[in-house]
Amino acid sequence: MQLIRLEEELRLNVPEIDSQHETLISLINQLHTAMLREADKASLDDLLSQLLDHTRSHCSYEEQLMSQYGYPAYAAHRSEHERLIEHLENLMGRYKNGDLLLSFAVMLELKGWATIHIEKSDKLLGIFLNDRAGIDTNHHKGSG
Ligand SMILES: [Fe+2]
Ligand SMILES: [Fe+2]
Repeated sequence: MQLIRLEEELRLNVPEIDSQHETLISLINQLHTAMLREADKASLDDLLSQLLDHTRSHCSYEEQLMSQYGYPAYAAHRSEHERLIEHLENLMGRYKNGDLLLSFAVMLELKGWATIHIEKSDKLLGIFLNDRAGIDTNHHKGSG
């Protein structure tokens, strides 16, 4: 089942970041499907580790771009990433200790933090990168 996909409104028109966001959302969807199928603990552990690894490397990638192009809201965006990663680590820790069951509520929470961060913060970074850095090569300009 498709829990979320990369909707048009979540696109930044920065191809590398969009592709990393697709992977992020796909991992959350896979985790959701695995949870519904009551997959074995090893598969769930593996998906959670992939999600954490991917989130870490994706956040570093964005931070590297922000730093390279002198993004004004760098510090705030970076601390948002740190909070997201801390939250995910905490969730994984609770899961590994058996203090947390992967439930529909947990999946909604994961979906929530991913989409809210992309909509509220990454979107602004995407606009900045397109305006200032000319990073996008596939941007379709509206008729005007
Ligand atoms: Fe971000
Ligand atoms: Fe992002």
